[in-house]
Amino acid sequence: MIKSETIRNAFINFFKKNGHIQISSAPIVPENDPSLLFTNAGMVQFKKWFTGEEKPQHLNVVSSQKCIRAGGKHNDLDNVGFTPRHHTFFEMLGNFSFGSYFKEKAILFAWEFLIKEMNLKKEKIYISIYNEDSESEEMWRKISGFSNSKIIKISSSDNFWSMGDTGPCGPCSEIFYDQGSELDGGLPGSKNQDGPRFIEIWNLVFMQFNKKNEKILNLPKKCVDTGMGLERITAVMNGKTNNFEIDIFKKIIGKISTITNTNITKDNVHNFRIIADHIRSIIFMISEGIIPSNEGRGYVLRRIIRRAAKQMNNLNLHNPLLYKLVDIICEEYKETFFELESAKSFIKNALYEEEKKFLITLSEGSKLLEKEIKFCKKEIFPSEIIFKLYDTFGFPIDMTEQIISKKNFKVNNEELKKLFDNQKKISKKTWVGSGDKKNDEFLSKIGDFCKTTKFVGYESLFLKSKLLKVIKNNKFLDNLENNEDCILIFEKTPFFAESGGQIGDSGYILENKDKIFQVISTQKNESGVFLHYGKVLREKKILTGKNYDLLVNVDKRKKIRNNHSATHLLHESLRKIVGEYVSQKGSLVSEEKLRFDFTCNRVLTEIEEQNIEKIVNDVIRENYKVSVDMLPIKKALDSGAIGLFGEKYPDIVRVVTISKKKDPKETDFVSAELCGGTHVEYTGEIGSFKIISQSAVSSGVRRIEALTGEKLNAYLTNKIKLVEQIKQLLKTNEENIFEKIKNLKDENKSLKLDSKTTFDEIKIEKKNLEQLKKYKFFWQIISISPRELKAFSDKIKLVLDPDIFLIISKFESKISVLVCVKESLTKFYNAVDLLKKILPMVGGKGGGGKNNIAQGGGVDSSRIEEIPKFIKSLIQ
Ligand code: SER
Repeated sequence: MIKSETIRNAFINFFKKNGHIQISSAPIVPENDPSLLFTNAGMVQFKKWFTGEEKPQHLNVVSSQKCIRAGGKHNDLDNVGFTPRHHTFFEMLGNFSFGSYFKEKAILFAWEFLIKEMNLKKEKIYISIYNEDSESEEMWRKISGFSNSKIIKISSSDNFWSMGDTGPCGPCSEIFYDQGSELDGGLPGSKNQDGPRFIEIWNLVFMQFNKKNEKILNLPKKCVDTGMGLERITAVMNGKTNNFEIDIFKKIIGKISTITNTNITKDNVHNFRIIADHIRSIIFMISEGIIPSNEGRGYVLRRIIRRAAKQMNNLNLHNPLLYKLVDIICEEYKETFFELESAKSFIKNALYEEEKKFLITLSEGSKLLEKEIKFCKKEIFPSEIIFKLYDTFGFPIDMTEQIISKKNFKVNNEELKKLFDNQKKISKKTWVGSGDKKNDEFLSKIGDFCKTTKFVGYESLFLKSKLLKVIKNNKFLDNLENNEDCILIFEKTPFFAESGGQIGDSGYILENKDKIFQVISTQKNESGVFLHYGKVLREKKILTGKNYDLLVNVDKRKKIRNNHSATHLLHESLRKIVGEYVSQKGSLVSEEKLRFDFTCNRVLTEIEEQNIEKIVNDVIRENYKVSVDMLPIKKALDSGAIGLFGEKYPDIVRVVTISKKKDPKETDFVSAELCGGTHVEYTGEIGSFKIISQSAVSSGVRRIEALTGEKLNAYLTNKIKLVEQIKQLLKTNEENIFEKIKNLKDENKSLKLDSKTTFDEIKIEKKNLEQLKKYKFFWQIISISPRELKAFSDKIKLVLDPDIFLIISKFESKISVLVCVKESLTKFYNAVDLLKKILPMVGGKGGGGKNNIAQGGGVDSSRIEEIPKFIKSLIQ
C-alpha cells in the first residue's frame, strides 16, 4: 500500500523542485479571520496575500494544510461515515501563486504531477471548467491533448470557488478520476454526477476576484490556489474506492477494534468509520486549545466528540474509550504535525472529561426521556422536548428518535428543523468575530511603504535611529507641531511592541538630550513594522529622514521583564502542581502585575496556591540563569519547550529557558517556552512572587493574578498599614485582632436577635419527612425571621438530607416560604417554579432564587397548612 506520507512528500518535493517554497500548515483556528470558524482550505492562511492587504512573502508556495469542515459554509459533518470520502478533518495539498504564474502553468503542473509523478492513466482523467472560462479550456486541450468530450463546461457555482460569503474567489477547474464502470455515477454536470464512479481529486482555482460587501471586485493580481485532498488521492493511488481503506484509517480502525474488543462487520463498519474520522478532528482541535463548550468552536468540538462517543455507545460500550486513540494518532503525525506530541496529555485529559460528561448525559437523558414519554398523550412527540434534550442536555437526536419510535410516537420533522435552524443562527452569531484582533486597514498595510523594523530592544534600551514615517489620522506627514498625537516609525527601535501578552514599551524620543516626543505605547502590525504611539512634547518640529535618540523607560521595562519571567515560572509550577495538561489560554504582562489564564476545570486549593508560590520563590532565590536560544521549531518542541496551542510559529523560534543547570536532565525544575518577550538574566532579579487572586474566566479556564518585586512590596506595605489601622481602631494587639473581631460580631448578632427565636432553637419536625415516589420530601411550619430561613435550611440538609423540602415561616405578620431541591434533581423539579406556584396561596408574588433554592413571601396566613399537601401533589 502506498502510504499517505509518501504522497504528501512527493507532492511537496515536486513543487519545491518547480520553484515553490514550502510553508507549514496554519492552525485550524484561523488567525485574524472573524469570517471563518475553521481553516477549511489551504488558501486560508494566504487570504491577505491574495487580496493585497499584505505583501506576499513568496511568489510561489506549496503546503499541506490541516483542514476542518464541520461548521460554517463547508460543513461535512452529517455525511461522514456514510459516504466513501467525506471527512471532518483532512489534509489539503496545494500549490499557490501570488501574481506569478496563472492558468497555463497551474494546469501544466497539475498534469505533470498526476501523469508523470503519480503515473495515473490519462484515459481515467476528466476535466471540468467554468462555462465562461475559454482560456482554461484552450490550455487543457493543449496540455492534455483531450478532446471536447473530456473537458466539461459547468455553469454552476461548482466551478466558481469561494472561501465563504466574503473573500477571494474565482473560476475553477476540477480534475476528476474514473474509478471504473462497475461503479454507479456519471460525469460532472450529469444527473448522476454524485455517484461514486467519477471523483474529483484536485481543484485548481484561478483567483481573480474578491467578494466584499456583496460586490465582486478584481484582485490586485491574478493568483492560483489549488487543493487536493491527501486522503482522496491516496485512495486513488491505491485503487481503493473508499478513503477509509487507506493506511491512516486502517490503523485507527484496527486500534478501535482492539480497544473495544469488537470485530468489524458490515453492520457496524460505519460506527468505526465515524470514530476514525472524528478522532482526528477532535485531537487537532484540542491541540490548538479549543475546549468543548456550548458556543462557537467549542460547540462544534462538543458535537463531534458526542457523535464519536455515541458510536461507542452503539457498539454497546459504556466507558470513556476515545481518549485511548490519542497516542496512535500523535505517533502517526509525529513528523508532519509534531506540535501534537507536546499537547498529548492535555488532549487526553480534555477528551476523557468530555466523554465522561457525555456518558452521564446519556444515562440521565434516557431517564428524562422515559418520563416525558409517560406524560405524552399525543401521537406526535413534542418537538421542543426532542430539541431541548439535544440542545440543553446534549442528548443525541437519533437516539431520541430510536427510543420514541419504539413507543410508536411520530416526529414532526419540519417543526424540529425550524428549531434547529434558529439555533444555528444563534450559534453562528456567537462565533463571528470572537477573539480576533481588530486591524486598522491603513496600519496593516504600512508594510508596503516601509521595511520591517529592526528590533534591538533585547540588547539595548537606548539608540539612535532614522525616523522613516510620521502618521496622523491615517495620513503620512513630513513633520509635526507641538502637542500633536501621532505614530512614529523608525528604521530600528529598542521599544518592545505589544505581543505574546506583554504590553508595549513607553519612553521618550530625544534630540540633543532634550525629550521632544513621549512614546506612550508601542504596537506592531502584521508585517513587523513597529508603531510608536505618543505625542510631541515641545515646540519643535519632528522631521522624517532625521536621526533621533530613542530611550525606553527603563524602570517600567524592568518591572515588565520581572513579571514576564515570573509568568513562565508560574506556568511551569502549575504544570507541576496541577498537572501537565495545564495549558496557557492567555496572559497579560505589564509593569503592574501579571495575569495568567490556563485550562483547568476546578478551583485550586489554598495549599496548591501556596505550593506554587513556594516553587516560584525558591527558583527566584536560587537565582537561576535565564537563557535564550534560537532553534528550529521541531528541535525546540522535541526538547520539551512549550508553545502556545494553535499559534503558528516561524521555522526558527526563540526559546527562553530557566533552569539551574545547562543540562535539563540534571535538574528537576526547567521552564522552557517559545517566547518573543523580554526577560530577566537571573531569576533573583524578580525579587519575590505572590498570587493575589484566582478566578474563573469561562468554563474550563481559570485565571491567576500575581505580583512581583517592588509592586508586591507596595501591596504588602498597604496590607500591613491596614492591619495597623484595625489594631488602633480595636485598641488591641496583632495576636488578638481575630478574636476581637469575632467577639464583636457575636455580640452584634446577639444584640440584633434580641429575644427573638433563632434557627438554632427550633427543633426539626422529623416526623414530617416522607417518601414520595423515589424522593425524600420534608416540610415544616415555623416562626423565625426570613433572614434565618437559609441557615435553618442548611441545618435540615445536614440532619435529614431530603431531596425536596419546604419551610414556611410566620413571622411578624409576614409569611416567608423557602423551597429547596437537590442539585441532581433540578432537571426535573425547579425550586423557583415550585415557589411561584406556592406564592399565590400566601397572597404574594415575585420571589426568586436558583434552580436548587428559592425564597419568597406574602401576607396571607389563612392557607399555609394546605401548602405541603399542594406541593406533594405536584411532585406526585
Ligand atoms: N480553495 C480550493 C478548495 O478548497 C482549492 O484549494 O477546493
